[in-house]
Amino acid sequence: MVQTLPKHKCTILIILVFSFLQNGESHKFSRNLSPKSLGFKKQKLSHIHFYFHDIVGGDHPTAMQVARAAITKTSHTAFGLTVMIDDPLTVGPERTSKIVGRAQGIYASVDLNQVGLLMAMNYVFLEGKYNGSTLSILGRNSVFSPVRELPIVGGSGLFRFARGYALAKTHFLNISNGDAVVEYNVYVQHY
Ligand SMILES: *[C@@H]1O[C@H](CO)[C@@H](O)[C@H](O)[C@H]1NC(C)=O
Ligand SMILES: *[C@@H]1O[C@H](CO)[C@@H](O)[C@H](O)[C@H]1NC(C)=O
Repeated sequence: MVQTLPKHKCTILIILVFSFLQNGESHKFSRNLSPKSLGFKKQKLSHIHFYFHDIVGGDHPTAMQVARAAITKTSHTAFGLTVMIDDPLTVGPERTSKIVGRAQGIYASVDLNQVGLLMAMNYVFLEGKYNGSTLSILGRNSVFSPVRELPIVGGSGLFRFARGYALAKTHFLNISNGDAVVEYNVYVQHY
């Protein structure tokens, strides 16, 4: 004998199934989106050029040692030396040149044999349409090579979905106090 549910019980069952499905829907934690739905249209490539001032000496340093290892003093690469920076980024090479952003982060000596730094920093832009946008850099800086390449691993604001690379070239180095001016050419893909 085939038992059929009374009509009103059927309706209740359908409502229950639907509300269960809807609940399931609202608890989903991932979905596919078109880039356009978030306002991302065409990917572009930008070239950004500035000078980075690593000011170690004087009354107003922007780069300060925050840690070191027991070996740092005797190591010819100053292994373990860790420096926190909030370095100005300017349009021209002079320290008095217009500031377009800051490089905020940490660099540390991580190579026992040759001088090599781990750089972990954000470029925080302060000028024009880039004001408030950031780029994140994580890479190796062999400071005595003529040109060093550092990966851009991401960004925020106008630089969402950023990836690319930065080429660093020492413009000036004061050997007596460690002050350096580094020219940066940054090539970055973003929307
Ligand atoms: C950048 O943005 C900050 C905060 O919104 C604002 O105070 C500042 O004037 C802006 N700078 C420029 C150069 O537009
Ligand atoms: C280099 O640093 C020394 C020591 O702080 C300073 O006396 C000198 O003026 C600096 N040289 C330049 C070119 O900035």
